[in-house]
Amino acid sequence: MNTFINKTVLITGGTDGIGKSLVLQFLGFGANVVTCGRSQQKILALEAEAPMGKLSVLPVDVTNEKECEKMVLHTVKMFGGIDILINNAGISMRGLLEDAGPGLIPVIKKVMDVNFYGSLYTTAYALPYLIKSKGVVVGVSSIAGYRGLPGRSGYSASKFALQGWLESIKTEVASKGVHVMWVCPGFTASNIRNVALNSKGESQGESPLDENKLMNADECARRIIISIQKRKRTLVMTFQGKETVFMNKFFPGLTDKLTRRFFFKGGELVK
Ligand SMILES: NC(=O)c1ccc[n+]([C@@H]2O[C@H](COP(=O)([O-])OP(=O)(O)OC[C@H]3O[C@@H](n4cnc5c(N)ncnc54)[C@H](OP(=O)(O)O)[C@@H]3O)[C@@H](O)[C@H]2O)c1
Repeated sequence: MNTFINKTVLITGGTDGIGKSLVLQFLGFGANVVTCGRSQQKILALEAEAPMGKLSVLPVDVTNEKECEKMVLHTVKMFGGIDILINNAGISMRGLLEDAGPGLIPVIKKVMDVNFYGSLYTTAYALPYLIKSKGVVVGVSSIAGYRGLPGRSGYSASKFALQGWLESIKTEVASKGVHVMWVCPGFTASNIRNVALNSKGESQGESPLDENKLMNADECARRIIISIQKRKRTLVMTFQGKETVFMNKFFPGLTDKLTRRFFFKGGELVK
């Protein structure tokens, strides 16, 4: 991975999960890395784990446009430009519209704010520098960006929005040498389900999946980095993820039924 030596990578949400694995692996390949998160505790933990000099971790909430602008300017000031932007910061949710009614609206807005608008803000401010470097913009999407998932309506909406938007700007900036791509992990062991918002907008505090049986964040990050090196258009991960995307494209009615069977038992959302 000599490709990444002294390249500058800006990764949002790099203090935990997949983002943290991306940060540590890019540092291992000799890249300069700037990342962010909201929790001071996680920022300090990452700083303690990573070699200093090549890494800068900022307390930035990507739902704040001004903070995203400052993060981009900080990256350019510190390392002279941006070669790769990875829009990774994301949150999930779990709640049914029929149960929560209009109560679900603020939850969905919050998810859109982080997953879609956070990516929009960061990319908009970073784009001039990415044009200069003929760099790469990556969106960390999800299988939920190809197939609407029950109980995660706002999450799916945010990832469909992210992919549609990235596909649009991909075509806009292709002639400038900027490569725009999106990567779609399947279920990956991380903190995302513990902190997913319930119908009241609070962290649900548990995972409905057996996290030990899922792909781990390091493997997910490894595959993302290879896809960036190869400048792939998209990356869909896990057998279940690939199967879902294929089935939904060619057999959407059947996939509606299979999806319902996977997430519900006895009429109740169990996953
Ligand atoms: N894990 C999966 O199964 C899975 C599957 C498909 C796609 N993905 C996608 O992968 C990405 C990473 O998820 P993950 O599973 O690694 O989640 P995670 O373990 O919960 O990590 C999320 C990271 O994003 C940061 N973050 C959250 N909200 C933020 C905000 N408003 N501003 C700045 N940073 C923020 C978190 O730090 P703070 O909380 O301290 O801010 C943390 O560093 C997300 O886009 C997610 O949708 C995950």
